[in-house]
Amino acid sequence: MEAISVEFTKVGKRFGARAVLAAVSGTLRPGEVLVVAGPNGAGKSTLLNILAGVLRPSRGGVAYRRGDEEVPRREWFENLGMASPDMAVYEELSAIENLRFFGRLRGHALADGALAELLETLGLPVREHHRAVGTYSSGMKQRVKLAQAALHAPAVLLLDEPSSNLDAAGHEAVAALVARFRARAAVAVATNDPREIAWGDARLDLAL
Ligand SMILES: Nc1ncnc2c1ncn2[C@@H]1O[C@H](COP(=O)(O)OP(=O)(O)OP(=O)(O)O)[C@@H](O)[C@H]1O
Ligand SMILES: [Mg+2]
Repeated sequence: MEAISVEFTKVGKRFGARAVLAAVSGTLRPGEVLVVAGPNGAGKSTLLNILAGVLRPSRGGVAYRRGDEEVPRREWFENLGMASPDMAVYEELSAIENLRFFGRLRGHALADGALAELLETLGLPVREHHRAVGTYSSGMKQRVKLAQAALHAPAVLLLDEPSSNLDAAGHEAVAALVARFRARAAVAVATNDPREIAWGDARLDLAL
């Protein structure tokens, strides 16, 4: 995996008459965690969706760079991992089946053993791996979402409220995941949790 930085410049977003982001700039640097904070409705999730290329900004732009080279937009998806409350996992599939599916989607087929290991590092014990995710608790589903974001070891990791629904052990597992990625990836965490804000090497505060 080669290091990628993500630069966003004067990003603005409107939903109809509602202006959500106004000229927001910053950079996700490999080896750093950018914390995106701000009150409910300030646009944290919107910004992460724009950085992921899921939403188009109304103004400004986003560039992925590998060294001096700009990474074309069609290659963003394979280079990023994202977990957010807006994302769903397939309820009728087991955790392992979900990860197999998302892995294939990224062109990154991992052996079941590796997927099981990843789920275990996120605190989901092996005995739960083959049960339909629809029968999981919300914290267990959150762990599957995080595994989905991390499984292809992306150069860019975008985490929207990663500890939502997680207990203390789950929070520690996310902290370990972020620490592992920080070594080589560019990481953004949208959060208002003081424990997560403390992970940030840089911080962007969005206002209402
Ligand atoms: N698809 C959409 N259509 C219309 N308005 C939207 C849409 N998505 C977000 N918004 C609005 O944009 C604003 C920012 O929403 P966003 O979800 O980005 O905030 P947030 O900072 O992530 O909040 P929270 O802390 O509650 O997660 C809100 O006022 C929301 O209603
Ligand atoms: Mg949000």
